[in-house]
Amino acid sequence: FERQDGRPFRQRLLVVANRLPVSAVRRGEDSWSLEMSSGGLVTALLGVKGFEARWIGWAGVNVPDEIGQRALTDALAQKKCIPVFLDEEIVHQYYNGYCNNILWPLFHYLGLPQEDRLATTRSFQSQFAAYQKANQMFADVVNKHYEEGDVVWCHDYHLMFLPKCLKEYNSNMKVGWFLHTPFPSSEIHRTLPSRSELLRSVLAADLVGFHTYDYARHFVSACTRILGLEGTPEGVEDQGRLTRVAAFPIGIDAERFIRALDTLPVQEHIKELKERFAGRKVMLGVDRLDMIKGIPQKILAFEKFLEENSYWHDKVVLLQIAVPTRTDVPEYQKLTSQVHEIVGRINGRFGTLTAVPIHHLDRSLDFHKLCALYAVTDVALVTSLRDGMNLVSYEFVACQDLKKGVLILSEFAGAAQSLGAGAILVNPWNITEVAASIAQALNMPAEEREKRHQHNFKHVTHHTAQEWAEMFVSELNDTVVEAQLRTRQ
Ligand code: ADP
Ligand code: G6P
Repeated sequence: FERQDGRPFRQRLLVVANRLPVSAVRRGEDSWSLEMSSGGLVTALLGVKGFEARWIGWAGVNVPDEIGQRALTDALAQKKCIPVFLDEEIVHQYYNGYCNNILWPLFHYLGLPQEDRLATTRSFQSQFAAYQKANQMFADVVNKHYEEGDVVWCHDYHLMFLPKCLKEYNSNMKVGWFLHTPFPSSEIHRTLPSRSELLRSVLAADLVGFHTYDYARHFVSACTRILGLEGTPEGVEDQGRLTRVAAFPIGIDAERFIRALDTLPVQEHIKELKERFAGRKVMLGVDRLDMIKGIPQKILAFEKFLEENSYWHDKVVLLQIAVPTRTDVPEYQKLTSQVHEIVGRINGRFGTLTAVPIHHLDRSLDFHKLCALYAVTDVALVTSLRDGMNLVSYEFVACQDLKKGVLILSEFAGAAQSLGAGAILVNPWNITEVAASIAQALNMPAEEREKRHQHNFKHVTHHTAQEWAEMFVSELNDTVVEAQLRTRQ
């Protein structure tokens, strides 16, 4: 195995994330088919090559019987994946409950679910217990497969309790933890009843990573303010032990997108799309159907743009591709109906017998179709209310080297820090501002588009998923060596 710089990389990497890169669908008692999972974590990690890696996680399905578990374990082994089997009750309390109803909205500054605050507060203890139990189950599987010298890389808010469980098994394990969401201001984090347990557990890792410097700073502040520990430029210190904390901005495998554009299937899709939307500018949104993505706000801003710009009525179309996600969580179900209702109303208002202004698809698109859509787009709209990084904005830029379309990007996405100079930055809550930025983007002169695109394209092609992973793993190795040297002195 080789790294990008040609040096060998023989260390084994155990990637631990709640979601495996493939989700399982049962076809018979002992037969399974595997489908690609969606989400930024999976996309980024699949863009990393050259490590001797095993992926440990949940296959997104309840498998109560031993025959099914054995068959699924075998099917996943072919993809170098190792399953953690979670039963329905754990999934309900840990994944739907604690992870996606409590941590996810809180880390994105959306607070607890609006209509359900008291109920959520009441169920908190049992959900946190399930969260700890699930994390222990992940630790058991990691421990079973761990070999001396392996690097264990834990991912995301689902597994904040995991570093502690792993170090209890083996204090010499090299453990890193990376958060793919924002880490909120310590004033938000301190409202969590389990705030201290989560921080202490994460601090058991050797290296803790975030997408941006701000998220890392918030984490260190939470440790100093809530736990009374000392923050240093390197991280957080507790009784002489340092947990290194740093920012590692994620990227994508840009080459994969650029190469795909020249392939026959993508070229065919591009041709079809150009014919279908001839004479109209194409605006695009690609998101998981999640409350953090600001989809209703985006559509309302588009409506305002149409209200104020009758010239564009039959000359622009918004394609919103929203893959359903976490469909057992009530907040997500409400969001789906809300989006459908708004789209229906606007299409009723501005549509004609032959064309509608918004095409909304509740589905995942395959890679080739997605590349083609990115390539024909004139303006991409990424209006997340908060977002750890947002890789859709990177994917769009990677596919735009011919067209040089405009990216409208929320200032609350981590990507605003890297693509801010090339994008039009907006406050997604301000519908008037977003509507005005749509007009600005559609009317932008070619020269300015070119300049903005070059800035973003350079970033996306230079700071890749590969670079991100190599930096994290080598920093983890260095951190452990330095800690060993310190204890010897
Ligand atoms: P998140 O991590 O919150 O899902 P990101 O923007 O970082 O957000 O990553 C989303 C990933 O999921 C991207 O790789 C994107 O291509 C993919 N994705 C999102 N929606 C769709 C869709 N409707 N069809 C196909 N892929 C999608
Ligand atoms: C975000 C999270 C990931 C998660 C993904 C999809 O990217 O950071 O951890 O895998 O969303 O969500 P899901 O709940 O389907 O895994």
